Amino acid sequence: MNIAEKIAGKDLRSALEVCDSMGQLARIRRQVDPFYEIPDVIRNAGRQPEIPALLFENVQHYPGWQVAASLVSHPLRTAAIYDLPANPIECKLRLMDLLDRPIPTVTVNSGPCKENVITRNIDVKSIVPATHGALQSNHFYYQGPVVTQDFQSGKQNLGIYRTCVQGPATVTVNGRWDRHFGLQLSDAKREGRTMPVAIILGADPLWLMAAASKLPYGYDDWGLVGAIRGRPMEMVKCETSDLLVPADAEVIIEGEIRPPYEMGDDGPWPEYLGYLGMNIHPPLVHITAITHRNKPVTTIFCPNASPEYYGYISGAQFLRHLRGFASTFVMDCATHPATLHHHAVIKVRKTEAHHEALQLNVALAAFGYGIELDRVTLVDDDIDIYNPSQVEWAVATRCDASKQVHILCNARTHQNNPIAGVKEFDDQPITKAKWIIDATIPWKYRVAEKKPGVTFFTRSHWNGLDLKEYLEPDDAARWVKTNDKGKILEGILAPWNSDRS
Ligand SMILES: Cc1cc2nc3c(=O)[nH]c(=O)nc-3n(C[C@H](O)[C@H](O)[C@H](O)COP(=O)(O)O)c2cc1C
Repeated sequence: MNIAEKIAGKDLRSALEVCDSMGQLARIRRQVDPFYEIPDVIRNAGRQPEIPALLFENVQHYPGWQVAASLVSHPLRTAAIYDLPANPIECKLRLMDLLDRPIPTVTVNSGPCKENVITRNIDVKSIVPATHGALQSNHFYYQGPVVTQDFQSGKQNLGIYRTCVQGPATVTVNGRWDRHFGLQLSDAKREGRTMPVAIILGADPLWLMAAASKLPYGYDDWGLVGAIRGRPMEMVKCETSDLLVPADAEVIIEGEIRPPYEMGDDGPWPEYLGYLGMNIHPPLVHITAITHRNKPVTTIFCPNASPEYYGYISGAQFLRHLRGFASTFVMDCATHPATLHHHAVIKVRKTEAHHEALQLNVALAAFGYGIELDRVTLVDDDIDIYNPSQVEWAVATRCDASKQVHILCNARTHQNNPIAGVKEFDDQPITKAKWIIDATIPWKYRVAEKKPGVTFFTRSHWNGLDLKEYLEPDDAARWVKTNDKGKILEGILAPWNSDRS
């Protein structure tokens, strides 16, 4: 069976098959504990030049369960699992098209996720493998898509919000106030309602990506998954609420946030920017049921352990947002792998004098995409934004900081950026300056000629011969890296597209 046929699958198990068929699944057969040992194995594997997908087949304390990790930690494997083009701009254009054509879900009577239904004597931590993550942490955590519902419209929302075990049948869900989850919880509190919650564990990586994506409130996330897969997602109703969850999920934790809306304790957790997160108090969820498949497979993911490519949909939506403002003047955009949504690079195409300064309006529009975005670097159309060295070169050679760096004081940002998060100690809003680095060549300098046909920014030119023709065949095979179409490798989904929003 080829990879494409395997992708016809629809859940975590089929994603594992894709990894296996590509020879990229490492099965770990010795017994490992999920609390500290599995995250450490993931972290060590995550530091290898080529990161394998991992399947822990013998999980201590959890006989019969398996844990998968790092499925989407390798760019080409990730493209195969998602069934999306590996080239970043092609991938974005495909997703931008699919975002307009979601395929509605269908509801079925039952599915594999109902093979085991537990509604009594629930002890979540002894049923479903949990992890501590970093050494400083001693809470038990899960990370999976969380389903909630808008009370007025009935539309469901999907987001990944960290889940932290509080007691045998209680967890917290870290859906912050500014997330769609947080907005729905505010509505529930205002009306004194109970808010049902369903946490999906053992998810297809595509569901995780859809959940992690910054899409407009009310957008049909499952519909986008259906559009990418080319068929509707099959959903089943929860046992204890009307929420709908994927029939092929491995595990569902059902619960409720009820008046008087108690809070729990979470933290410290190894946060995505590489710093240890603070102790926080997210809302408490009372577990009402756990359902799971036979021989379940769940996932463990820890920020900073291994890169995980969950950012392609957000990348497409970001470009859609910018093009909604300035059309194809915006050629492409990407977030930086080290700082995720805190730094975006935007490539613009100035072709006429009146385009000058429009790039600054584009940067201002970018800040409206999400509060995390702290810095925008603007570059011209000749820069490969997936290559940090080229961006660095553009900043160094095209930006006069006294004229082309713009600072906007004190706008809201994400608390996990510690230079803003420290403000919590003073009970201040979490704000920091936003800044724009305009590394596009100012129009008048772009066209100013030193001598006819040569500007200050004219690059040196080369013939572009084919290196393969000059090397012995063995050396050509060893040193010239091409893709399967024979093109020199460039612009594959590189770490620049990784993000967690
Ligand atoms: C592995 C992972 C863990 C995440 N954990 C959290 C979290 O604990 N809290 C949070 O607010 N966002 C978290 N996010 C980001 C949200 O899932 C993301 O912002 C998403 O867009 C939220 O959904 P919403 O836009 O419907 O609110 C996480 C993302 C990933 C990939």
